[in-house]
Amino acid sequence: MNCCVVGLQWGDEGKGKIVDILAEDSDIVVRYGGGANAGHTVVVDDNSFALHLLPSGVIRPDTVCVITNAVVVDPETLITEIEALDERGISLQGRLWVSENANMVMSYHKQEDRLREESLGKNKIGTTIRGIGPCCSDKIGRSYALRICDLTDLDALRNKLQAVAEYKSRIFTAVYQADPVDADELFEMCKSYADKLLGFITDTTEFLHRQIAAGKSILFEGAQGTLLDIDHGTFPFVTSSNSSALGMPAGAGVPARMVDKFIGVAKAYTTRVGAGPFPTEQDNEIGQYIRDKGHEYGTTTGRPRRCGWFDAVAASYSVNIGGIDSIALVHLDTLSGLEELKVCKAYEIDGRETAFFTPGGAKLSRTRCIYETVAGWQEDISTVEDFADLPQNAQNYISLLESIVGKPIAIIGVGPKRSQTIFR
Ligand code: IMP
Repeated sequence: MNCCVVGLQWGDEGKGKIVDILAEDSDIVVRYGGGANAGHTVVVDDNSFALHLLPSGVIRPDTVCVITNAVVVDPETLITEIEALDERGISLQGRLWVSENANMVMSYHKQEDRLREESLGKNKIGTTIRGIGPCCSDKIGRSYALRICDLTDLDALRNKLQAVAEYKSRIFTAVYQADPVDADELFEMCKSYADKLLGFITDTTEFLHRQIAAGKSILFEGAQGTLLDIDHGTFPFVTSSNSSALGMPAGAGVPARMVDKFIGVAKAYTTRVGAGPFPTEQDNEIGQYIRDKGHEYGTTTGRPRRCGWFDAVAASYSVNIGGIDSIALVHLDTLSGLEELKVCKAYEIDGRETAFFTPGGAKLSRTRCIYETVAGWQEDISTVEDFADLPQNAQNYISLLESIVGKPIAIIGVGPKRSQTIFR
């Protein structure tokens, strides 16, 4: 059985925990998109692991982990994560494979990300400054892109770096009045990357197809969320990759029809980091309650997340474009203690009611939400193991979401630990 886990909102849905649980029944876990802008926290016993690039499956000692073509790989972050896990007794030798065709995020990409955001002032996107946009721009532009396979031919790479440094220096000095880029420094960096990464590099597409032919079960792990998808999200306030389920086939080189089940992960409410429209946002005491109780601060940047009610219009859109079979709804425990809860079931835009999400920014920022209001529950639900033992109002809340979104909520998270999960 091959399965794909994808975020249904604006990222940070808690995919890491769900992937970690499903990884128990998978031979291989695959990261197919995004880069070190992602942040997954996995809690095992009382140990918390914050990962940015490595698939969440790495925590399980027998799971093979793969980073495929469409992931933009920051070698520095990758090496830091491999070494940090090694120090905690978790070795990745022989079970981590990184695509030779993945593009590399270099130091100048991160610098360019920061310079571009600073120059945009109040119009900035609010990126994670992990160099994702500039690296993806170079990938699409092709001429100055560097890929992981370049680490396997250092002589050729030295020449490439010369050309890249000249080009980037022209931009940095002329556009941003910043320092030029030093080719020798870049080369030394790349040599150290090659030293540490060569043993992990392979053609991951061939690897995955061989594993599928051998009957291995594969779990594809999405990064960010559907609403941040470059083509189908709230452009321009999106990331630079196809972070919806649609990115999985292109990112991994495996057709979607080889995936038996697409699982969408959503929080029981909605969050967003960075700028952009957010119809159900509660910039008030409700939002603050959710932020405090749900520890809604970014894993990658530490920024406070914007919080709001569950947007069933947006979630339905994500379910539709992703071909989602079932939903994992997490952080239900965060909503305990609220007198009443609201769920956005339709939008009113320019006097017209619609249940279809239109990601184009301008329309979305004119949206008025039409809510269904239901009673909340006061009980602490963080130790509940069976659906039937949830307070009746919590059960009603789940049923309401299912009825609007039209898919079963098969997994419910009531806390950060593996054990705090209800399966239905
Ligand atoms: P970038 O991917 O760093 O270019 O950031 C673009 C937008 O996507 C910003 O609004 C970020 O906050 C958002 N973003 C990127 N990665 C994540 C993530 O893993 N979770 C939530 N938001 C993200």
